[in-house]
Amino acid sequence: MAEEKKLFNVTIDNITIQVEPGTTILQAARQIGGDVTPPAMCYYTKLQGSGGKCRTCLVEVAAGSTADPRPMPKLVASCRTAIMDGMVVKNITSEKVMDARNGVVEFLLINHPLDCPICDQAGECHLQDLSYEHGTEGTRFEFPKRLFEKYDLGPYIQLHMTRCILCYRCVQVADQVTGKRVHGVLDRGDHAQIATYIEKALDNEFIGNVIDVCPVGALTDRTFRFKNRVWFLKPVDAHRDCPTCKGEVTLWYRGDEVFRVTGRKDQWGEVKDWICNTCRFHTKRTSDWVIEGPTKVNRHSVISQGHYTKLKKPEETFDKLMGRSPKLLLDIHDESEVNLPEVRLSEFNRPPTAEDYITTKALTEGKEKGEEN
Ligand code: SF4
Ligand code: FES
Repeated sequence: MAEEKKLFNVTIDNITIQVEPGTTILQAARQIGGDVTPPAMCYYTKLQGSGGKCRTCLVEVAAGSTADPRPMPKLVASCRTAIMDGMVVKNITSEKVMDARNGVVEFLLINHPLDCPICDQAGECHLQDLSYEHGTEGTRFEFPKRLFEKYDLGPYIQLHMTRCILCYRCVQVADQVTGKRVHGVLDRGDHAQIATYIEKALDNEFIGNVIDVCPVGALTDRTFRFKNRVWFLKPVDAHRDCPTCKGEVTLWYRGDEVFRVTGRKDQWGEVKDWICNTCRFHTKRTSDWVIEGPTKVNRHSVISQGHYTKLKKPEETFDKLMGRSPKLLLDIHDESEVNLPEVRLSEFNRPPTAEDYITTKALTEGKEKGEEN
């Protein structure tokens, strides 16, 4: 009879689950899901040896294990720390963790430019999300940020090193997926940068995947740069019979046009399968693909905005409870002269123009002038 596998108990933010030995705290937290899961900017499930660089996933271990329930003296990187039986972990329930995470984000933003309005990664950037949740409104850094020239790493990829947070994911993709790495992290400390050193092109058939794994906008798709914003595009799952990769992708449409092709990502923003350059850069007609249907997008993502197929209005309970309709306390037109009383801005299905904002006062003045003439 097969021996039953022993599972470890772990409690994260007061939720206890059982996991297999060898599971990391981050993986266990992902099994619980939701806010309990620490953010991860450098860990990537599919890449061996990833994690341990960015420190965004720090957690507090309040009890090491049942055998040794002492707390760990410092916060630990959850992506690189394995669960012990009876471990108690605090993530969002720990003030220390929240404080440290704010500090980590502040450090990541020391050199990262706040150019989200013109960055292609905006709307799907993990650092953008993180800075909304943990960033401060100002910086305490008084020195100039590091600046680099943008340069093309071959025909498909552009490197904007100023945005890089040195997570090493692209280096690991080149090592583990393409098997032919010509770029890496050069120099150390404040001088560390991603480069090819002798301006080589990244030309492997699977090198396009570095774009998908980059958590910020440092590596972008040259065939898509500045063509559109992701929240205007409609992601659709599609596949094709590809001799090189599995051929399962997401097509990003605006109208009938496919603007870009990416790997399919899971809820943690990690690709499910690596895709080849032919699928990514050279097959951008609908006729190249078998369409499966709309991609499921998290409703909190900006990409899901404006893509409702059917609006479901919540049931109005006020009338039922009170036995009457809510009383209109104030008509805005009694108070404001922003627009004419017959102009109801909320009922437009277009953006208002200057014409709609003619005030009653301006109209009266106009009338008076007209009468004089
Ligand atoms: S270029 Fe992107 S993927 Fe590569 S190390 Fe920098 S942030 Fe990470
Ligand atoms: S995700 Fe754990 S250190 Fe970066």
